[in-house]
Amino acid sequence: MMTKNGHPRLVIPGPVEVRPEILEAQTEWMIGHRSSAFADLFARLQTKLRQVFLTESRVFVSGSSGTGLWEGASRNCIRDDRKALHLTGGAFSERWAEISQLNGKQVDIINVEWGQAHTAEMVADALKKETYDAVCVVHNETSTGVTNPIKEIGEVVKQYNDTLLLVDTVSGFLGTELRADDWGIDIALTSSQKAFALPPGIAFASVSDQVLERAKQVTNRGYYFDFLELEKSLQKNNTPSTPPIALMFAADKQLDDILAEGLENRWTRHQQMRDMTHQWALDRDFGLFAQDGYRSNTVTTVDNSRGIDVNDMAKFMKGKGFEMDKGYGKIKGKTFRIAHMGDMQPTTLEEVLGGLDEFLGA
Ligand SMILES: Cc1ncc(COP(=O)(O)O)c(C=O)c1O
Repeated sequence: MMTKNGHPRLVIPGPVEVRPEILEAQTEWMIGHRSSAFADLFARLQTKLRQVFLTESRVFVSGSSGTGLWEGASRNCIRDDRKALHLTGGAFSERWAEISQLNGKQVDIINVEWGQAHTAEMVADALKKETYDAVCVVHNETSTGVTNPIKEIGEVVKQYNDTLLLVDTVSGFLGTELRADDWGIDIALTSSQKAFALPPGIAFASVSDQVLERAKQVTNRGYYFDFLELEKSLQKNNTPSTPPIALMFAADKQLDDILAEGLENRWTRHQQMRDMTHQWALDRDFGLFAQDGYRSNTVTTVDNSRGIDVNDMAKFMKGKGFEMDKGYGKIKGKTFRIAHMGDMQPTTLEEVLGGLDEFLGA
């Protein structure tokens, strides 16, 4: 049932497997968050986070999962009498649009069928017709395995000074190219438990100066995710409320390891694993759910065209020591997802695919 390490290895699209060294880093003796040791930790993290987000602005560290920063981004960037444009086409992009609405924001939507990507042209057309405070887009739609063309969308949004580009890169970040400053991204938000390969419970967002200018014009920013308060504390290498210090120790170590691997090498490793997974699926007469040309580096949504029983598959794979996904939301079972992200190596993926072959009786 278990691996030799005594636990099933996670092949689900988050939380992902976390290396023992990173788990170990969480066990440092605790420090107070108003101490100089904490300010040092915060400053170290800030420097490294800017390097991986490829930004010269700032990176907020949040004691929440990514959902909290969704709420924060919507809340701080969309004024009461203005609108946001949400690009939806999967479970997570739909949920973010709903969160904006639940926070009382006015939202227009460009919806594509699940499995399809959004294009820069769609955004260009919408921005010609209406003025928006923000365009909200999911970089890597984890339910469908689609990666949206953020760079191209950024080129369009850059032409509108008052429109912010807010990007959810929860499951893309650190597995797929993303350049916050070069691509004109005002907020790139991510969770820890995906390609960052940390335990869940901490989230990060690069935030441009324009976002802070916008936040000043929003009266009801709430409290926990008030970006102006987060910024005030950040200037002092601190956080407004008690942060997840153990996870910050883990992030400190993980960022060293990520920078040692090299961002581009990390993206390439993910691409290789994506290609291996595609080849495996197609060779075995499965389909690929995501539109060609927009398939994710970090998660492959396999079209279950052979009609395998995903529950049996997951049970069989558990016996091999792997925790598998069975598909998400309305496409559960019709698809299943193979995550290939974080610190997973191609050799592990080979073991996973070999296990699936045994299940298929190949
Ligand atoms: C693309 C995407 N956005 C947002 C979220 C929500 O993030 P969290 O679970 O960290 O709150 C997820 C979670 O899977 C996701 O895949």
